[in-house]
Amino acid sequence: MPENTTPASKVLDRVLVLEMVRVTEAAAIAASYLIGRGDEKAADHAAVEAMRKAFDELYMDGTVVIGEGERDEAPMLFIGEKVGGAPGTGPKIDIALDPLEGTTITAKAGPNSMAVLAAAEEGGLLNAPDVYMDKLAVGPGYPDGIIDLGKTPTENVTAVAAAKGVKPSDIIVCVLDRPRHDALIAELRSIGCGVVLIGDGDVAGVIAVTDEDTTIDMYMGSGGAPEGVLAAAALRCVGGQFNGRLLFRNEDERLRARKWGIEDLNKIYKLEDLAKGDCIFAATGVTSGSLLQGVKHRKGGKMTTESVVMRASSGTVRWIRGEHRI
Ligand code: FBP
Repeated sequence: MPENTTPASKVLDRVLVLEMVRVTEAAAIAASYLIGRGDEKAADHAAVEAMRKAFDELYMDGTVVIGEGERDEAPMLFIGEKVGGAPGTGPKIDIALDPLEGTTITAKAGPNSMAVLAAAEEGGLLNAPDVYMDKLAVGPGYPDGIIDLGKTPTENVTAVAAAKGVKPSDIIVCVLDRPRHDALIAELRSIGCGVVLIGDGDVAGVIAVTDEDTTIDMYMGSGGAPEGVLAAAALRCVGGQFNGRLLFRNEDERLRARKWGIEDLNKIYKLEDLAKGDCIFAATGVTSGSLLQGVKHRKGGKMTTESVVMRASSGTVRWIRGEHRI
């Protein structure tokens, strides 16, 4: 059977799920030389170049559906760019990527920056425009539909608290520390919630709801829509619920969404709307954070990395510690 007629259910098998980690590792290592150097652009550029190159080693016919921007604004890993070493013959894979999630964090050596990607069978990932998305997430183990972006933060916290068997004031919510969230933070604190404020990096923020060790129950607030798709892919693999709604600041952003085929601009997206079918999520820490240890440069030209790769169809989560000799 020719490679490009691989049955859809097997498509991701053929890509060697674990190989995706090589790609995020390469980007993280490249960016790690710029940690704390105060140069966001250089850090991002290093990660993008390394990720682009690493993709070529993979046997796949990949297409970037969420990337560094549109073709005219990004020289590499732009939306629509073909990646992978087997164009036309390998399995057709859609890729959402962020070679450096947390450029400012990296430049300032803050916590939680990562190289991250999601991969799915062709058509499996929402082609989200680069606009904001209102996000609401809760970890696994709650009844379906427990969260609803159509309801107020207080109503959502109350529902989650009741299902958890605690008071609303026992619920811990992670929020990006931004002036646009002042009212949200005030409302959460008025009902006694603990609010964990993060400076950047809401992919890790959303994923934190799936890990009891973080003590974070819920994620709320707006951030990048592309990051929303990446986080949703991770939640598809490990469980949890997510609601996302695109937010538009002007007509230009609305036009961009329509260009990507989005008709209902007020739609509340759930996990399956953002990442459907089988999908993979892979990430390597650049700086250490709640999900991953960062790249550590050690004596004798060695460095260590920590990565995670997960797959929706099997629910397998693999933590990979790499030792690299440079
Ligand atoms: P970058 O890696 O592009 O700097 O994104 C970091 C980030 O914090 C995302 O995690 C988040 O979705 C977005 O920025 C929030 O945007 P803003 O900084 O405009 O509030």
